[in-house]
Amino acid sequence: MKLLVIGGGGREHALAWRLAQSPRIQTVYVAPGNGGTALASNMKNVPISAIDDLIAFAKQEKIAYTVVGPEAPLAAGVVDAFRAAGLKIFGPTQQAAQLESSKDYAKAFMVRHHIPTAAYQTFTDPAQAKDYITQQGAPIVVKADGLAAGKGVVVAMDQAEAHGAIDMMLGDGSFGAAGARVVVEEYLSGEEASFIVMCDGQHVLALATSQDHKRLKDQDQGPNTGGMGAYSPAPVITPALHNRIMREVINPTLSGMAKDGIPYTGFLYAGLMIGSGPDATRSLKVLEFNCRMGDPETQPIMMRIKNDLTGVFELAVNGRLDQASIDWDRRTALGVVLAAKDYPGTPRTGDVISSLPEDTQECVVFHAGTTLDDGVLKTSGGRVLCVTVLADSVKRAQATAYAAIAQTHFDGQQYRRDIGWRALPGGSA
Ligand code: AMP
Ligand code: GLY
Repeated sequence: MKLLVIGGGGREHALAWRLAQSPRIQTVYVAPGNGGTALASNMKNVPISAIDDLIAFAKQEKIAYTVVGPEAPLAAGVVDAFRAAGLKIFGPTQQAAQLESSKDYAKAFMVRHHIPTAAYQTFTDPAQAKDYITQQGAPIVVKADGLAAGKGVVVAMDQAEAHGAIDMMLGDGSFGAAGARVVVEEYLSGEEASFIVMCDGQHVLALATSQDHKRLKDQDQGPNTGGMGAYSPAPVITPALHNRIMREVINPTLSGMAKDGIPYTGFLYAGLMIGSGPDATRSLKVLEFNCRMGDPETQPIMMRIKNDLTGVFELAVNGRLDQASIDWDRRTALGVVLAAKDYPGTPRTGDVISSLPEDTQECVVFHAGTTLDDGVLKTSGGRVLCVTVLADSVKRAQATAYAAIAQTHFDGQQYRRDIGWRALPGGSA
Protein backbone atom coordinates (compact mmCIF):
# COMPACT_ATOMS: atom_id res chain seq x y z
CA MET A 1 0.00 0.00 0.00
CA LYS A 2 1.23 3.49 -0.87
CA LEU A 3 0.03 6.57 0.98
CA LEU A 4 0.53 10.29 0.51
CA VAL A 5 0.90 12.80 3.34
CA ILE A 6 0.64 16.47 2.31
CA GLY A 7 2.88 18.89 4.24
CA GLY A 8 6.45 19.22 5.40
CA GLY A 9 6.47 19.97 9.11
CA GLY A 10 6.94 18.01 12.32
CA ARG A 11 3.28 17.02 12.33
CA GLU A 12 3.61 15.44 8.88
CA HIS A 13 6.85 13.65 9.79
CA ALA A 14 5.11 12.16 12.84
CA LEU A 15 2.01 11.10 10.85
CA ALA A 16 4.16 9.54 8.12
CA TRP A 17 6.36 7.83 10.72
CA ARG A 18 3.41 6.17 12.44
CA LEU A 19 1.77 5.15 9.16
CA ALA A 20 5.05 3.80 7.77
CA GLN A 21 5.33 1.32 10.66
CA SER A 22 2.45 -0.68 9.30
CA PRO A 23 3.50 -3.95 7.66
CA ARG A 24 1.01 -3.09 4.88
CA ILE A 25 3.07 -0.08 3.79
CA GLN A 26 5.34 -0.06 0.79
CA THR A 27 6.04 3.71 0.78
CA VAL A 28 4.63 6.78 2.48
CA TYR A 29 5.17 9.73 0.12
CA VAL A 30 5.44 13.12 1.76
CA ALA A 31 4.81 16.28 -0.28
CA PRO A 32 7.04 18.20 0.08
CA GLY A 33 8.46 16.59 3.25
CA ASN A 34 11.64 17.67 5.04
CA GLY A 35 15.13 16.43 5.88
CA GLY A 36 13.78 13.83 8.31
CA THR A 37 11.33 12.28 5.86
CA ALA A 38 14.07 12.35 3.20
CA LEU A 39 16.28 10.21 5.45
CA ALA A 40 13.61 7.63 6.46
CA SER A 41 13.92 4.37 4.56
CA ASN A 42 10.20 3.80 3.94
CA MET A 43 9.31 7.41 3.09
CA LYS A 44 9.94 9.42 -0.05
CA ASN A 45 9.70 13.16 -0.53
CA VAL A 46 7.90 14.49 -3.56
CA PRO A 47 8.67 18.12 -4.35
CA ILE A 48 5.18 19.17 -5.41
CA SER A 49 2.52 21.37 -3.84
CA ALA A 50 0.08 22.46 -6.59
CA ILE A 51 -3.23 20.62 -6.17
CA ASP A 52 -3.37 19.48 -9.81
CA ASP A 53 0.14 18.02 -9.54
CA LEU A 54 -0.75 16.23 -6.31
CA ILE A 55 -3.80 14.69 -7.98
CA ALA A 56 -1.75 13.57 -10.99
CA PHE A 57 0.84 12.04 -8.64
CA ALA A 58 -1.77 10.21 -6.52
CA LYS A 59 -3.32 8.73 -9.68
CA GLN A 60 -0.02 7.73 -11.21
CA GLU A 61 1.27 6.05 -8.02
CA LYS A 62 -2.11 4.49 -7.18
CA ILE A 63 -2.09 6.08 -3.73
CA ALA A 64 -4.62 4.27 -1.49
CA TYR A 65 -5.51 7.52 0.31
CA THR A 66 -4.03 10.91 1.14
CA VAL A 67 -3.78 12.56 4.57
CA VAL A 68 -3.54 16.35 4.72
CA GLY A 69 -1.41 17.92 7.45
CA PRO A 70 -1.58 21.73 7.27
CA GLU A 71 -4.48 24.17 6.94
CA ALA A 72 -3.41 26.04 3.80
CA PRO A 73 -4.14 23.25 1.26
CA LEU A 74 -7.42 22.50 3.07
CA ALA A 75 -8.50 26.14 2.85
CA ALA A 76 -7.48 26.05 -0.82
CA GLY A 77 -9.86 23.13 -1.47
CA VAL A 78 -7.50 20.16 -1.82
CA VAL A 79 -10.13 17.76 -0.41
CA ASP A 80 -12.83 18.94 -2.82
CA ALA A 81 -10.44 18.58 -5.77
CA PHE A 82 -9.24 15.08 -4.79
CA ARG A 83 -12.79 13.86 -4.28
CA ALA A 84 -13.88 15.34 -7.61
CA ALA A 85 -11.04 13.34 -9.19
CA GLY A 86 -12.32 10.16 -7.50
CA LEU A 87 -9.45 9.97 -4.99
CA LYS A 88 -9.71 9.11 -1.29
CA ILE A 89 -8.46 11.83 1.05
CA PHE A 90 -8.77 12.57 4.77
CA GLY A 91 -9.55 16.20 5.58
CA PRO A 92 -12.36 18.76 5.59
CA THR A 93 -13.75 20.39 2.45
CA GLN A 94 -12.95 24.03 1.75
CA GLN A 95 -16.31 25.09 3.19
CA ALA A 96 -15.84 23.01 6.34
CA ALA A 97 -12.28 24.33 6.75
CA GLN A 98 -13.76 27.80 7.31
CA LEU A 99 -14.02 26.76 10.96
CA GLU A 100 -10.30 27.58 10.97
CA SER A 101 -9.83 29.85 7.96
CA SER A 102 -12.33 32.46 9.16
CA LYS A 103 -12.55 33.38 12.86
CA ASP A 104 -15.75 35.31 12.12
CA TYR A 105 -17.32 32.22 10.50
CA ALA A 106 -16.30 30.08 13.47
CA LYS A 107 -17.65 32.54 16.04
CA ALA A 108 -20.98 33.00 14.24
CA PHE A 109 -21.25 29.21 13.88
CA MET A 110 -20.65 28.68 17.61
CA VAL A 111 -23.22 31.29 18.61
CA ARG A 112 -25.77 29.85 16.17
CA HIS A 113 -25.32 26.33 17.54
CA HIS A 114 -24.92 27.23 21.23
CA ILE A 115 -21.32 26.09 21.52
CA PRO A 116 -19.62 27.83 24.47
CA THR A 117 -17.08 30.49 23.43
CA ALA A 118 -15.92 33.98 24.45
CA ALA A 119 -18.28 36.92 23.75
CA TYR A 120 -17.19 38.84 20.63
CA GLN A 121 -17.87 41.31 17.85
CA THR A 122 -16.49 41.51 14.33
CA PHE A 123 -15.26 44.78 12.75
CA THR A 124 -13.97 46.09 9.45
CA ASP A 125 -13.79 49.72 10.61
CA PRO A 126 -10.86 50.57 12.91
CA ALA A 127 -12.66 53.43 14.69
CA GLN A 128 -15.63 51.22 15.58
CA ALA A 129 -13.33 48.44 16.75
CA LYS A 130 -11.45 50.88 19.01
CA ASP A 131 -14.70 52.27 20.45
CA TYR A 132 -15.78 48.74 21.31
CA ILE A 133 -12.42 48.06 22.98
CA THR A 134 -12.70 51.27 25.02
CA GLN A 135 -16.21 50.25 26.07
CA GLN A 136 -15.21 46.70 27.05
CA GLY A 137 -11.85 47.53 28.67
CA ALA A 138 -8.70 45.40 28.85
CA PRO A 139 -7.53 42.68 28.96
CA ILE A 140 -9.12 41.92 25.61
CA VAL A 141 -8.21 39.77 22.60
CA VAL A 142 -7.88 40.94 18.97
CA LYS A 143 -7.85 38.32 16.19
CA ALA A 144 -7.34 38.70 12.45
CA ASP A 145 -10.22 36.96 10.67
CA GLY A 146 -8.16 34.89 8.23
CA LEU A 147 -5.22 32.49 8.33
CA ALA A 148 -2.16 34.31 9.67
CA ALA A 149 0.28 31.46 10.38
CA GLY A 150 -0.18 31.71 14.15
CA LYS A 151 0.49 35.45 14.20
CA GLY A 152 -3.08 36.70 14.00
CA VAL A 153 -3.92 36.81 17.72
CA VAL A 154 -3.01 39.59 20.15
CA VAL A 155 -3.91 39.06 23.79
CA ALA A 156 -3.82 42.72 24.87
CA MET A 157 -3.23 43.45 28.54
CA ASP A 158 -4.12 47.15 28.16
CA GLN A 159 -6.19 49.31 25.87
CA ALA A 160 -3.21 50.86 24.05
CA GLU A 161 -1.93 47.42 23.04
CA ALA A 162 -5.41 46.44 21.79
CA HIS A 163 -5.71 49.66 19.77
CA GLY A 164 -2.23 48.99 18.37
CA ALA A 165 -3.36 45.52 17.27
CA ILE A 166 -6.34 47.07 15.47
CA ASP A 167 -4.05 49.49 13.63
CA MET A 168 -1.68 46.69 12.70
CA MET A 169 -4.42 44.36 11.40
CA LEU A 170 -6.98 46.75 9.87
CA GLY A 171 -4.68 49.67 9.23
CA ASP A 172 -1.54 49.18 7.21
CA GLY A 173 -2.53 46.18 5.13
CA SER A 174 0.39 44.06 6.37
CA PHE A 175 -2.08 41.26 7.13
CA GLY A 176 -3.52 41.36 3.61
CA ALA A 177 -6.92 39.70 3.19
CA ALA A 178 -6.51 37.85 6.51
CA GLY A 179 -6.76 41.19 8.32
CA ALA A 180 -9.63 42.72 6.37
CA ARG A 181 -11.87 41.87 9.31
CA VAL A 182 -11.03 41.46 12.97
CA VAL A 183 -12.75 39.65 15.78
CA VAL A 184 -12.51 41.38 19.16
CA GLU A 185 -13.27 38.98 21.97
CA GLU A 186 -13.55 38.65 25.69
CA TYR A 187 -10.36 37.65 27.52
CA LEU A 188 -10.62 34.22 29.15
CA SER A 189 -8.36 32.85 31.86
CA GLY A 190 -7.76 29.26 32.84
CA GLU A 191 -5.82 26.29 31.56
CA GLU A 192 -5.61 25.53 27.84
CA ALA A 193 -5.88 22.06 26.35
CA SER A 194 -6.14 20.64 22.85
CA PHE A 195 -8.91 18.18 22.12
CA ILE A 196 -8.61 16.56 18.70
CA VAL A 197 -11.03 14.16 17.04
CA MET A 198 -11.28 12.34 13.72
CA CYS A 199 -14.57 12.65 11.83
CA ASP A 200 -15.99 10.93 8.76
CA GLY A 201 -19.06 13.12 8.29
CA GLN A 202 -21.16 10.99 10.62
CA HIS A 203 -19.01 9.30 13.24
CA VAL A 204 -16.35 10.60 15.56
CA LEU A 205 -13.26 9.09 17.16
CA ALA A 206 -11.53 11.11 19.90
CA LEU A 207 -7.74 11.13 20.00
CA ALA A 208 -5.73 11.28 23.21
CA THR A 209 -5.71 14.70 24.86
CA SER A 210 -2.70 16.99 24.68
CA GLN A 211 -1.44 20.36 25.67
CA ASP A 212 1.05 22.59 23.92
CA HIS A 213 3.22 25.50 25.06
CA LYS A 214 2.66 28.53 22.86
CA ARG A 215 5.11 31.03 24.38
CA LEU A 216 8.77 31.10 23.43
CA LYS A 217 10.24 31.22 26.94
CA ASP A 218 10.05 29.18 30.13
CA GLN A 219 7.11 29.79 32.49
CA ASP A 220 5.00 30.86 29.48
CA GLN A 221 6.85 34.13 28.97
CA GLY A 222 7.91 35.83 25.74
CA PRO A 223 6.16 36.03 22.36
CA ASN A 224 3.59 33.55 21.01
CA THR A 225 4.91 30.87 18.66
CA GLY A 226 3.39 28.01 16.69
CA GLY A 227 4.15 25.82 19.74
CA MET A 228 7.42 25.09 21.56
CA GLY A 229 6.52 21.67 22.92
CA ALA A 230 3.61 19.45 23.85
CA TYR A 231 2.66 16.43 25.89
CA SER A 232 -0.07 13.83 26.00
CA PRO A 233 -2.21 13.07 27.95
CA ALA A 234 -3.27 16.44 29.39
CA PRO A 235 -4.18 15.53 32.98
CA VAL A 236 -6.49 18.56 33.22
CA ILE A 237 -8.92 16.61 31.01
CA THR A 238 -10.34 14.07 33.42
CA PRO A 239 -12.83 11.44 32.19
CA ALA A 240 -15.66 13.66 33.48
CA LEU A 241 -14.39 16.66 31.49
CA HIS A 242 -13.81 14.45 28.47
CA ASN A 243 -17.50 13.58 28.51
CA ARG A 244 -18.51 17.23 28.90
CA ILE A 245 -16.27 18.23 25.96
CA MET A 246 -17.86 15.59 23.75
CA ARG A 247 -21.36 16.62 24.84
CA GLU A 248 -20.95 20.41 24.94
CA VAL A 249 -18.43 21.03 22.17
CA ILE A 250 -17.66 18.18 19.76
CA ASN A 251 -21.09 16.66 19.19
CA PRO A 252 -22.89 20.01 18.76
CA THR A 253 -20.14 21.15 16.36
CA LEU A 254 -20.46 18.08 14.16
CA SER A 255 -24.25 18.10 14.23
CA GLY A 256 -24.24 21.88 13.62
CA MET A 257 -22.05 21.47 10.54
CA ALA A 258 -24.31 18.67 9.27
CA LYS A 259 -27.39 20.87 9.86
CA ASP A 260 -25.72 23.70 7.96
CA GLY A 261 -25.29 21.27 5.06
CA ILE A 262 -21.51 21.00 5.47
CA PRO A 263 -20.80 17.54 6.94
CA TYR A 264 -17.41 17.61 8.64
CA THR A 265 -14.72 15.13 7.63
CA GLY A 266 -11.09 15.14 8.79
CA PHE A 267 -9.38 16.12 11.98
CA LEU A 268 -11.14 18.67 14.14
CA TYR A 269 -9.05 20.38 16.78
CA ALA A 270 -10.80 22.34 19.51
CA GLY A 271 -8.50 24.66 21.46
CA LEU A 272 -10.20 24.95 24.84
CA MET A 273 -9.90 27.25 27.83
CA ILE A 274 -10.85 25.45 31.01
CA GLY A 275 -11.71 27.56 34.08
CA SER A 276 -11.10 26.56 37.67
CA GLY A 277 -13.50 24.68 39.94
CA PRO A 278 -15.06 21.21 40.07
CA ASP A 279 -15.25 19.34 36.75
CA ALA A 280 -19.03 19.32 36.63
CA THR A 281 -19.28 23.11 36.74
CA ARG A 282 -15.95 24.62 35.66
CA SER A 283 -16.21 26.81 32.61
CA LEU A 284 -15.38 25.22 29.28
CA LYS A 285 -15.01 27.46 26.24
CA VAL A 286 -13.70 27.10 22.71
CA LEU A 287 -10.81 29.47 21.94
CA GLU A 288 -10.44 28.31 18.38
CA PHE A 289 -11.10 25.51 15.97
CA ASN A 290 -8.43 24.12 13.72
CA CYS A 291 -9.36 21.86 10.85
CA ARG A 292 -6.20 19.75 11.20
CA MET A 293 -4.05 18.21 13.89
CA GLY A 294 -1.86 20.43 16.05
CA ASP A 295 1.85 20.90 15.59
CA PRO A 296 3.60 19.93 17.88
CA GLU A 297 0.70 18.07 19.58
CA THR A 298 0.75 15.43 16.81
CA GLN A 299 4.29 14.33 17.68
CA PRO A 300 3.49 13.09 21.24
CA ILE A 301 0.07 11.81 20.14
CA MET A 302 1.63 9.64 17.39
CA MET A 303 4.17 8.25 19.89
CA ARG A 304 1.29 6.91 22.00
CA ILE A 305 -0.54 5.02 19.23
CA LYS A 306 0.10 1.28 19.52
CA ASN A 307 -2.06 -0.21 16.77
CA ASP A 308 -1.82 0.04 13.00
CA LEU A 309 -2.93 3.55 12.05
CA THR A 310 -3.39 2.74 8.35
CA GLY A 311 -6.61 0.84 9.13
CA VAL A 312 -8.03 3.75 11.13
CA PHE A 313 -7.66 6.18 8.23
CA GLU A 314 -8.96 3.58 5.82
CA LEU A 315 -12.18 3.30 7.84
CA ALA A 316 -12.31 7.10 8.12
CA VAL A 317 -12.12 7.79 4.37
CA ASN A 318 -14.83 5.18 3.83
CA GLY A 319 -17.29 6.62 6.38
CA ARG A 320 -16.89 3.71 8.79
CA LEU A 321 -15.09 5.39 11.66
CA ASP A 322 -17.61 3.83 14.07
CA GLN A 323 -15.69 0.56 13.56
CA ALA A 324 -12.28 2.09 14.34
CA SER A 325 -10.43 2.24 17.61
CA ILE A 326 -7.01 3.35 18.75
CA ASP A 327 -4.94 1.50 21.29
CA TRP A 328 -3.19 4.14 23.42
CA ASP A 329 0.08 3.64 25.25
CA ARG A 330 -0.67 4.55 28.86
CA ARG A 331 2.66 6.30 29.25
CA THR A 332 3.25 10.02 28.89
CA ALA A 333 4.63 11.30 25.61
CA LEU A 334 6.42 14.61 25.62
CA GLY A 335 7.97 16.58 22.77
CA VAL A 336 10.38 19.52 23.02
CA VAL A 337 10.77 21.79 20.00
CA LEU A 338 14.22 23.05 19.03
CA ALA A 339 13.83 26.32 17.15
CA ALA A 340 16.24 28.26 14.98
CA LYS A 341 17.96 31.48 15.95
CA ASP A 342 15.58 34.49 15.86
CA TYR A 343 12.37 32.39 15.76
CA PRO A 344 9.49 33.44 15.99
CA GLY A 345 10.74 36.45 14.06
CA THR A 346 12.50 35.75 10.75
CA PRO A 347 14.54 32.64 11.60
CA ARG A 348 18.10 32.14 10.44
CA THR A 349 18.32 29.14 8.12
CA GLY A 350 21.17 27.11 6.66
CA ASP A 351 22.80 26.11 9.96
CA VAL A 352 24.31 22.63 9.84
CA ILE A 353 22.70 20.11 12.21
CA SER A 354 25.92 18.53 13.36
CA SER A 355 24.66 15.95 15.83
CA LEU A 356 21.44 14.10 16.61
CA PRO A 357 20.66 11.22 19.00
CA GLU A 358 19.75 7.82 17.50
CA ASP A 359 16.01 7.12 17.42
CA THR A 360 14.89 4.40 19.87
CA GLN A 361 11.51 2.91 20.87
CA GLU A 362 11.25 5.63 23.53
CA CYS A 363 12.82 8.60 21.77
CA VAL A 364 12.23 9.86 18.24
CA VAL A 365 13.49 13.11 16.71
CA PHE A 366 10.81 14.46 14.39
CA HIS A 367 12.04 16.99 11.85
CA ALA A 368 10.24 20.18 10.82
CA GLY A 369 12.39 22.97 9.37
CA THR A 370 15.19 20.78 8.08
CA THR A 371 16.49 19.99 4.63
CA LEU A 372 18.95 17.50 3.24
CA ASP A 373 21.37 19.58 1.19
CA ASP A 374 23.83 17.36 -0.73
CA GLY A 375 23.69 14.84 2.08
CA VAL A 376 24.17 17.50 4.79
CA LEU A 377 21.28 18.11 7.18
CA LYS A 378 20.61 21.85 7.58
CA THR A 379 18.02 24.08 9.21
CA SER A 380 15.45 25.52 6.83
CA GLY A 381 12.71 26.99 9.03
CA GLY A 382 11.71 28.37 12.42
CA ARG A 383 10.82 25.21 14.26
CA VAL A 384 13.59 22.77 13.36
CA LEU A 385 13.17 19.56 15.39
CA CYS A 386 10.86 18.07 17.99
CA VAL A 387 12.58 15.59 20.31
CA THR A 388 9.74 13.33 21.43
CA VAL A 389 9.88 10.67 24.14
CA LEU A 390 7.70 8.15 25.97
CA ALA A 391 8.14 7.56 29.71
CA ASP A 392 6.30 6.43 32.82
CA SER A 393 5.85 9.92 34.20
CA VAL A 394 6.12 13.52 33.08
CA LYS A 395 9.23 13.94 35.21
CA ARG A 396 10.95 10.96 33.60
CA ALA A 397 9.83 12.09 30.16
CA GLN A 398 11.44 15.46 30.78
CA ALA A 399 14.67 13.82 31.93
CA THR A 400 14.79 11.57 28.84
CA ALA A 401 13.95 14.39 26.43
CA TYR A 402 16.51 16.82 27.84
CA ALA A 403 19.19 14.11 27.89
CA ALA A 404 18.51 13.52 24.17
CA ILE A 405 18.63 17.27 23.50
CA ALA A 406 22.08 17.39 25.06
CA GLN A 407 23.17 15.24 22.10
CA THR A 408 21.57 17.55 19.53
CA HIS A 409 23.40 20.45 18.01
CA PHE A 410 22.99 23.25 15.49
CA ASP A 411 24.16 26.84 15.92
CA GLY A 412 21.55 29.16 17.40
CA GLN A 413 19.25 26.41 18.71
CA GLN A 414 16.74 27.59 21.30
CA TYR A 415 14.29 25.55 23.32
CA ARG A 416 12.25 25.69 26.51
CA ARG A 417 13.51 23.83 29.53
CA ASP A 418 10.15 23.35 31.21
CA ILE A 419 7.95 21.50 28.73
CA GLY A 420 5.26 19.65 30.68
CA TRP A 421 5.49 21.84 33.80
CA ARG A 422 1.74 22.20 34.16
CA ALA A 423 1.37 18.43 34.36
CA LEU A 424 3.80 18.20 37.30
CA PRO A 425 2.40 18.26 40.85
CA GLY A 426 1.53 21.86 41.71
CA GLY A 427 1.99 23.01 38.12
CA SER A 428 -1.63 23.43 37.11
CA ALA A 429 -2.98 26.91 36.38
P1 AMP B 1 -5.95 31.04 18.85
O1 AMP B 1 -5.16 31.03 17.58
O2 AMP B 1 -7.33 31.61 18.74
O3 AMP B 1 -5.87 29.76 19.62
O4 AMP B 1 -5.12 31.99 19.82
C1 AMP B 1 -3.77 31.77 20.13
C2 AMP B 1 -3.57 31.84 21.60
O5 AMP B 1 -4.03 33.10 22.11
C3 AMP B 1 -4.37 30.80 22.39
O6 AMP B 1 -3.73 29.59 22.47
C4 AMP B 1 -4.48 31.48 23.73
O7 AMP B 1 -3.28 31.29 24.47
C5 AMP B 1 -4.62 32.92 23.38
N1 AMP B 1 -6.05 33.29 23.32
C6 AMP B 1 -6.88 33.21 22.25
N2 AMP B 1 -8.11 33.64 22.56
C7 AMP B 1 -8.08 34.01 23.85
C8 AMP B 1 -9.05 34.53 24.77
N3 AMP B 1 -10.31 34.80 24.38
N4 AMP B 1 -8.65 34.78 26.03
C9 AMP B 1 -7.39 34.55 26.42
N5 AMP B 1 -6.43 34.06 25.62
C10 AMP B 1 -6.76 33.79 24.35
N1 GLY C 1 0.07 23.93 18.32
C1 GLY C 1 -1.07 24.69 17.96
C2 GLY C 1 -1.53 24.48 16.60
O1 GLY C 1 -1.10 23.60 15.88
O2 GLY C 1 -2.41 25.23 16.19
